[in-house]
Amino acid sequence: MSIAQTNVQAYRASLLHFHGDPAFDSEARAWHEDGLLVVEDGRIKAAGDYAALIGSLPPGVVPHDYRGQLITPGFIDTHLHYPQTDMVASPSPGLLPWLETYTFPTERRFEDPAHARATAEFFLDELLRCGTTTAVVYCTVHPQSVDAFFDASEARNLRMVAGKVLMDRHCPDFLRDLEGSVGTSADLIEKWHKRGRQLYAITPRFAPTSTDAQLRATAELAQAYPDTFIQTHVSENKDECKWVGELHPQARSYLDVYERFGLMRPRALFGHCIWLDDEDFARMTATGSAAAVCPTSNLFLGSGLFDFDKADSARTQLSLGTDVGAGTSFSMLQTMNEAYKVARLKGSYLPAERMFYLATLGAARAMGLEGTIGNFQPGAEADFVVLDPTCTPLLARRTRQLDSLEELLFALALLGDDRTIRATYSAGMQVHARAA
Ligand code: GUN
Ligand code: ZN
Repeated sequence: MSIAQTNVQAYRASLLHFHGDPAFDSEARAWHEDGLLVVEDGRIKAAGDYAALIGSLPPGVVPHDYRGQLITPGFIDTHLHYPQTDMVASPSPGLLPWLETYTFPTERRFEDPAHARATAEFFLDELLRCGTTTAVVYCTVHPQSVDAFFDASEARNLRMVAGKVLMDRHCPDFLRDLEGSVGTSADLIEKWHKRGRQLYAITPRFAPTSTDAQLRATAELAQAYPDTFIQTHVSENKDECKWVGELHPQARSYLDVYERFGLMRPRALFGHCIWLDDEDFARMTATGSAAAVCPTSNLFLGSGLFDFDKADSARTQLSLGTDVGAGTSFSMLQTMNEAYKVARLKGSYLPAERMFYLATLGAARAMGLEGTIGNFQPGAEADFVVLDPTCTPLLARRTRQLDSLEELLFALALLGDDRTIRATYSAGMQVHARAA
């Protein structure tokens, strides 16, 4: 007699996820204090109250007991650079000298596939230790840096987005694309986009480092492959904005350079967006583009403070990025911590609930991946994280006395980091467990 195999797992914990943006929808949040998450074949089968769901489990399935912990969808980091892992926390007075002094020499090493692969493995370990299950990642100009990253991600069956940096001027010769680099990107798209869980991002570094010819060819590529991502930097630093104004005097703004070349569309993710004006934010919304807000990086380099109120007035799609190596932490909790303070300094207020939304469903929406990742709707990929509110003596003490869910989330965001991540799951498999 054969015993029926079941591929169902269940997890008992408090559950938090979102169906909408809590800034605009009072029904956006789903919260189950004593909850059950049910996973089948790597996808969400159900998420709800323990009492309501326990009877629906197939015989023999015993829930994993995470009572006292909080399960949320895996965090999504929409902007960072894996080749900059080794230069995180490198001191420099601002973006442009930081690029010259540290970034370009560090990225040069990725011509070596062995170095690229070893760095990609460390980088993915670090993301998973911090509860990040999806990231939108810059590689370097070297196609082998892209292969190394996707090889490592595919071997772990992670849902990752990455692409080859395009850059053919205002950079050292050793990193300058030769003619045909956009064709190389097309080859990489054919090889990697939608292979397993891998997705490709067309990656012009930023307007100053591409010739008009390269930006034109990049836009043609983005049109030929409309379901790929586009990622670039915009309006991060005042010196950079001035430089772009000199290079493109006909453009209304820095962002307008990208729009004129045809690089604004759904699935285009613009890093930083600090110095955008109202018209720029309106164009972001109208084109379906999204902002990747990178507070630890912006504070570290002294770039400026993102204006959440201005972005929300235009209803621009927002997400959070660490921007490692200019960002100073891989942790999305630490990124929330600094996002909160950036908002305060701008006179805005970011509730913790909103920050958890931005790091999960908000990012998935910004990426056009709602239904695939970002929340616990049935059929979504089972990427989730187990957060431990007692992971440090201070957090344990603070979370013993709470008046609301908002206070719990706020304490996790302000006091939490990699230590808070008890376990990380990707497609239903445990991919990180904190050492006891
Ligand atoms: N602008 C162009 N390249 C970069 C980069 O690597 N990091 C940041 N923060 N800004 C950039
Ligand atoms: Zn960046």
